[in-house]
Amino acid sequence: MNIAVFASGRGTNFSAIMRAVKKGKIKANLSLLVCDEPKAGVIARARRAGIKVALVKREDFVSKKEFEEKIIQHLEENKIDLIVLAGFMRLLSPEFVNRYKNRILNIHPALLPSFKGTEGIKDAFDYGVKLTGVTVHFVDEKMDHGPIILQAAVKIKDNDTLETLEAKIHKVEHNLYPEAIRLFVEGKIRIEGRKTYVLT
Ligand code: GAR
Repeated sequence: MNIAVFASGRGTNFSAIMRAVKKGKIKANLSLLVCDEPKAGVIARARRAGIKVALVKREDFVSKKEFEEKIIQHLEENKIDLIVLAGFMRLLSPEFVNRYKNRILNIHPALLPSFKGTEGIKDAFDYGVKLTGVTVHFVDEKMDHGPIILQAAVKIKDNDTLETLEAKIHKVEHNLYPEAIRLFVEGKIRIEGRKTYVLT
């Protein structure tokens, strides 16, 4: 199975996934990084590891459709079976999502359906919840919405700052995402409507 990670930022989840592939925990190839942001730290991580990078910038295309067609071209060239969004800060079109239906995963740094969007950690912190966490889910047409695969809770203690909370969330992400990808790769996730079940 060939995996493409889509990312726009630092790439710590990308590195965690790469480590899990290297260790043989995820029995698949990490074949491609798709990145839309030339300054993103994730690009250097991929290059250092010798993983192919497709830099596809939205502003180089007149429409979202053409931007996504270019991405699809890269996915087809590399025979990608699974797309893993790891801090990819763009909403994919319904056409794109349909084409790869139930083959796109996303990680969100909050317990969905709470605190959707790009600031999940800060929004939960500012709201004052005592419990937040991490969600891995299948991607559908709506943002941070598709069937949930795994969730893990993270407590917000009175002495937490936004920075300490971010560190705790990222640590949990780096375990939860590889685990969800492993389950997918091993064919252990069954989807029924909005619900998923892990086969034992
Ligand atoms: C992660 O915390 C991920 O959950 C978040 O972006 C960060 C990327 O970090 N994604 C979202 O907020 C999606 N709504 P990374 O570049 O270090 O992996």
